[in-house]
Amino acid sequence: MNATSKDLKLLTEAAERAAASSRAAEPDPYRLGFHVQPPTGWLNDPNGLCQKDGVFHAFFQYAPFNADGGLKLWGHAVSRDLLSWEYLPAPLFPDHPFDVNGAYSGSALVEDGRLELFYTGNVKREDGDGFDYVTTGREAAVIRACYNEATGLVDTKRVVLTNTDYPADDTLHVRDPKVWRLACAEAERAAKAGVGPYLMVLGARRRGDLPESTDQGGDAGEVLVFSSADKRVWTLANRVSTPKRFGFMWECPDYFELPAAPAVKILSVSPQGLSGAPWDALNVYQAGYFTVAGDVWDAAHPCAFGDFSLWDAGFDFYAPQSFEAEDGRRILVAWMGIPDEPAYGNDPTVARGWQHALTVPREVTVAADGSVRTWPVREVEALRGSLDEGGDVFSAEGEPACLFDLEVAPQPGEQRLQGFYALVADELELSYNPDAQAFTLRFTDPSRASAGCGRTERTWPVGELEDVRVLADTSSVEVFVNGGAAAFTTRIYPKRVSVNVEAPGARISFWPLKA
Ligand code: FRU
Repeated sequence: MNATSKDLKLLTEAAERAAASSRAAEPDPYRLGFHVQPPTGWLNDPNGLCQKDGVFHAFFQYAPFNADGGLKLWGHAVSRDLLSWEYLPAPLFPDHPFDVNGAYSGSALVEDGRLELFYTGNVKREDGDGFDYVTTGREAAVIRACYNEATGLVDTKRVVLTNTDYPADDTLHVRDPKVWRLACAEAERAAKAGVGPYLMVLGARRRGDLPESTDQGGDAGEVLVFSSADKRVWTLANRVSTPKRFGFMWECPDYFELPAAPAVKILSVSPQGLSGAPWDALNVYQAGYFTVAGDVWDAAHPCAFGDFSLWDAGFDFYAPQSFEAEDGRRILVAWMGIPDEPAYGNDPTVARGWQHALTVPREVTVAADGSVRTWPVREVEALRGSLDEGGDVFSAEGEPACLFDLEVAPQPGEQRLQGFYALVADELELSYNPDAQAFTLRFTDPSRASAGCGRTERTWPVGELEDVRVLADTSSVEVFVNGGAAAFTTRIYPKRVSVNVEAPGARISFWPLKA
């Protein structure tokens, strides 16, 4: 550690202690029970997600001194069940010239008993020189570092890529390395092409020299694929994007394969700058994935993308990252928040000195029909208290309803639900429209002072309605429709906690959760 990180560490710990003692004096009704949240201040992307020796690690973008954001360091929480998290001291600080304006997002690689990290060193030069911070005034390096379990700190930072290593027609926005090691058969194929066994995807913004109004005009999001034999020297293997420009920047890329016959290859990105239908009616930025035919690392044989699918169509979901658990499950966690959204927010937690959380970890699978699904990890079921089974109408209110898991399934022998309407905390409507085959999340009061804190309505097609699951944790609601083929996540700040469900012909199961 140097003087900068020593002092940042002391200041962070002092801020965390002060927050903990003020919560001890006055409990905060909006702290979550089983989600990762900042000890104090601001949280955004999940970083370095992994499991090592049975322990799950969730690092996260962390600005402990200001609930509205600020200088980014990494926070750190560990868990054995993905739901009860122990917060460890912040392990990574922006303390070098190459990361002086923020230790930005990155990923973990567990190998040979070591937990290595790759992250973006953000440098933003002093204002006042006319910089636009897109093509001038900014640096984004990839830093390789090691998480030292004995000290709880990230050390031995080494720069492995700088802007000069990126294609000359990229802007200075290149970041968020996700690193993995190729497995068996693919590693052999890649080796023949001189690629691997380590691969890294980076999110990038390619410079567009044509006017925005043309199809290929304006800056364009893309993913850079770098390859390495030793994790130290990295060379550009490929750059991939959609044939038609799809937003100006792709943040937080991730690439993985889902077991199925044949395997489904997923390139996950968080695109910024999508406009027109359906994007204008959704969040300011999106998070979703393309299925990939071919190999992302193979420049000689360009891969093809399927359509872009949203991971989640709710108000609060961005910058997801996945990892493979030791039992082989692919688990996805996102920032339960969104950047640059002026119309809605989290004023009730900001007033209490903190903001944002991570989503519940979701297992990603391929269903028999080939569709990709996300579903809360099965560990959630161990939190369930005693089952309350309703007919097709159900209501609950009060303390146990603050944390609950609700499953609404068709009656035995039926394929699908006949209809669905739920009201959470008197203000959040969840409903299905059979004519449009669409599911809607709607806050009945759109004002900033309401439970939705300015959130209004999100509607997304889900096809015929088979089942619904709602997972609530004090100030969050995560909805999974049709076995997780669609999901909707929102923060909520209720004054009174209740849930009322009407689902003709359904079987409703309700469990209070203990967190
Ligand atoms: C996504 C993001 C990343 C960046 C990080 C900075 O939310 O903008 O691209 O690394 O947040 O906190």
